[in-house]
Amino acid sequence: TSVTSFYEQVGGEATFHRIVAKFYEEVAGDELLRPLYPEEDLGPAEERLRLFLMQYWGGPHTYSERRGHPRLRMRHAPFKIGPAERDAWLRCMRIAVDEVELSQQHRDQLWQYMEMAAESMVNSWF
Ligand code: HEM
Repeated sequence: TSVTSFYEQVGGEATFHRIVAKFYEEVAGDELLRPLYPEEDLGPAEERLRLFLMQYWGGPHTYSERRGHPRLRMRHAPFKIGPAERDAWLRCMRIAVDEVELSQQHRDQLWQYMEMAAESMVNSWF
């Protein structure tokens, strides 16, 4: 039997590269999100999100080799993430996910995860 991961089914690293690059292009121009990022260069943040998503969807575990256990809620604690930040994040991600060619089923599965993950990162309710 051969069971391929979601990661492989959607085209591997190239697909995640395109999604996350587009996502950060949008973040760079978002007046609510951009100031949250501590570094002037968004490149390292882009790489961390790309490696995390590749690992989550069944690709290589490079993220954890470099960063350890994801603990994403804890890593986001320094940033105020309210409903407006969550919505801005999802707006950027929607554009990025819509840009790549995916089957409807893969797109829906990916999007459902993004909505759940973004909601779970909310740490401020105003
Ligand atoms: C890191 C913002 C949601 C994954 C960060 C950073 C900020 C941020 C400011 C630090 C930048 C850096 O790494 O240098 C936000 C906001 C969100 C959000 C405003 C709104 C809901 C998410 C979601 C995911 C995610 C839903 C995963 C699906 C990551 C990862 C890192 C990160 C993997 C790097 C963690 C590390 O290894 O240090 N985020 N984020 N974020 N975020 Fe988010």
